[in-house]
Amino acid sequence: MSKDTASDPSLPVMELALPTPAPAIGWEEYFRTNPPPSGTEDAGQRIDKFISFHAKANRRVVLVTSGGTTVPLEKNTVRFIDNFSAGTRGATSAEYFIEAGYAVIFMHRQFSLQPYSRHYTHSKNCFLDYMQVGPDGSLTVDPKYSDHMREVLGKYQKAKQDNLLIMESFVTVEEYLFLLRRFTTALSTLRENALYYLAAAVSDFFVPPDKMTEHKIQSSGGCLELQLDQVPKVIYPLVDTWASRGFIVSFKLETDPSILIPKSRRALERYKHQLVIGNILSTRKRVVTMVTLEDEQDITLSDQELAEGVEIESRIIPDLVARHDRWIKKSAKHAQ
Ligand code: PMT
Repeated sequence: MSKDTASDPSLPVMELALPTPAPAIGWEEYFRTNPPPSGTEDAGQRIDKFISFHAKANRRVVLVTSGGTTVPLEKNTVRFIDNFSAGTRGATSAEYFIEAGYAVIFMHRQFSLQPYSRHYTHSKNCFLDYMQVGPDGSLTVDPKYSDHMREVLGKYQKAKQDNLLIMESFVTVEEYLFLLRRFTTALSTLRENALYYLAAAVSDFFVPPDKMTEHKIQSSGGCLELQLDQVPKVIYPLVDTWASRGFIVSFKLETDPSILIPKSRRALERYKHQLVIGNILSTRKRVVTMVTLEDEQDITLSDQELAEGVEIESRIIPDLVARHDRWIKKSAKHAQ
């Protein structure tokens, strides 16, 4: 650290206190030096089956990633670092993709919001509040909720009956990365018919297994100093190798509006995928920006629409479907 940097009061104290970070390892080295978590291949085979079922019907398939990844601090994990995401964006989007005729691979953080059940979990009501006991002792849905519940139930049952939704879960960033590689590679067999919708909030830093303690870190050791390695940006191999023919959408989350568009555009220039959806933490349910190399378009809900319960994903998904249509047509033209 230079003297100038050390005395600059505008820099955050955390940055000054931390040792020089280890250089980021590449994605190839990451996958070579970290063993795949158990269950990766079993999940991969379930996804293979789902994809080949829909390939026969020539149906489009979207991979939706949703929720935040964790970074364990100990092998026998008591403590971990978490990433913010309730899973609302992913779970809500999955429902609108199914409505638009897509089959959905929903790769989500365990216990985060899921399509259809999201309407009743994590809400103010306990599920028992939706029920009532009739005079004859029968258990029914409270009539004030039954119209909405009938509608959600109908959509859920149709999705199940037509095998339009498969769900696989992760907790740690390691599980996420291995599942992502396995699923995107499998989905690439659908070529342009595949859509990748990367809404999960993925950790940027982690403790590699060889630097992790076996057992719970003891507080008797005083202050805890952590040095985290950088997680490789897997969107690079995803675009370049694993899923190169599909339509790839990543998200950019920021809290400072002034850097959202430049950073979204920089991601497009760097990774060369099709679209970044930019959102600001505090306004993410009301406004998103669809950013391409050529232009940017806001999708915004009015206060009235918000009050009426309109979900912004009901606007995002049709917009994406139209972009995916154009992508498929353009690729077909190139192939001629
Ligand atoms: O679930 P909700 O509560 O509704 O919140 C939704 C959301 C705000 C989490 C969602 O809309 C969103 O913005 N998700 C992406 C958040 C994020 O991780 O952004 P980022 O700037 O850290 O990453 C940008 C992109 O790089 C992501 O598409 C990610 O897939 C990719 N990435 C990130 C880390 C990493 N190691 N490798 C990656 O490839």
